[in-house]
Amino acid sequence: MSSQQKALVLPKKQGSFELSSRSIPSPGAGQLLVKIQSAALNPVDYKIKDAGIFVTQYPAVLGADIAGIVEEVGEGVENFGKGDRVLAHGKFSNDFAAFQQYTLTDASFTAKIPASESFDSAATVPLGLDTAVVGLYGDQLGAGITRPWTKSTDADESKTPIVILGGSSSVGSYTIQLARLSGFYPIITTASPSNEELVKGYGATHFFDRNLSGKQLLAAISEVTDGPVKLVYDAISLPETQSVAWELLADNGTLVLTLAASVKENEGRGRRVIQTFAGPHAAQNEELCSSSWAMVEKWLSDGTIKPNNYEILPNGLEGIIGGLERMKLGQVSGTKLVAHPQETQ
Ligand SMILES: NC(=O)c1ccc[n+]([C@@H]2O[C@H](COP(=O)([O-])OP(=O)(O)OC[C@H]3O[C@@H](n4cnc5c(N)ncnc54)[C@H](OP(=O)(O)O)[C@@H]3O)[C@@H](O)[C@H]2O)c1
Repeated sequence: MSSQQKALVLPKKQGSFELSSRSIPSPGAGQLLVKIQSAALNPVDYKIKDAGIFVTQYPAVLGADIAGIVEEVGEGVENFGKGDRVLAHGKFSNDFAAFQQYTLTDASFTAKIPASESFDSAATVPLGLDTAVVGLYGDQLGAGITRPWTKSTDADESKTPIVILGGSSSVGSYTIQLARLSGFYPIITTASPSNEELVKGYGATHFFDRNLSGKQLLAAISEVTDGPVKLVYDAISLPETQSVAWELLADNGTLVLTLAASVKENEGRGRRVIQTFAGPHAAQNEELCSSSWAMVEKWLSDGTIKPNNYEILPNGLEGIIGGLERMKLGQVSGTKLVAHPQETQ
């Protein structure tokens, strides 16, 4: 194996991506070296490039969604071996990022890919699923719902309604699937009409057009459930979806956001707003995400979690540049874009 690899690098803050060469790192204790077969794109990648957020050291390698083959196992790692097919959640650190040919991963946030899934489908899972996990079950960065995979009693949330705005987004799709696992009912979501079947396939029980106003949606939801809507997960979290979410949320309810809040919490109705943050490596998320990552192989093989639809980008790592532009323009619907780093020329 050569000691060098190809990587898509952002040379400076708010710069332009370029193809570059960097050395292949060695795994430390608790880590794996993974040869990346599939890397999925996320909105945060173009936001880092355009707004210069999150990343502090340049040149920077981006990308959080990793699927590939274990090349080397670090000290103390017992549950993975060379040749395993795995998916993993990367982080904002060059040796742990997806847009290159080899990366390190933390074994705690890595899972084996069952035979039923491809590298491409597996790469659609990590960031979207972690955002759903933390937003629903996180004590500090989420709604603090009881995790359904560790308790012995029936799901707490049975007959409790949940509204998930943006069910065809990656985050929305995994939130629907976990809401089903938690026993929420009804599971109400919004998307474009062309994605109605997609979101119902994830487990939404009721679909509404994303273009309805808050008032129209409130009226439609009152036909579906008498129960107060105490939990809204706004996977999109633009000011317009937040104001719809706020209109739907009952007294003492919780609104989970994926972006910064534009609604005001302090209005005497006991409602709270939580901006989630999906990084499993964050201290607040480590224990929760270690526990959910231990379930990922099983969830994928028994169909509890269905990966997103995907589209493969041409030209290896270079294809990511155009893919991020399309995402930024809102031209990607109900689909994850996936690159093949090994096909880089
Ligand atoms: N806080 C965190 O840690 C964290 C983690 C992950 C993501 N995020 C953020 O969460 C957001 C979603 O990320 P993602 O990866 O899930 O996005 P994505 O899959 O790229 O989102 C695309 C989808 O958004 C839907 N959409 C756009 N505007 C909508 C609206 N007004 N109402 C309903 N659906 C709408 C589209 O639905 P249709 O095509 O059906 O119309 C499309 O399918 C992004 O802003 C991202 O940066 C934050």
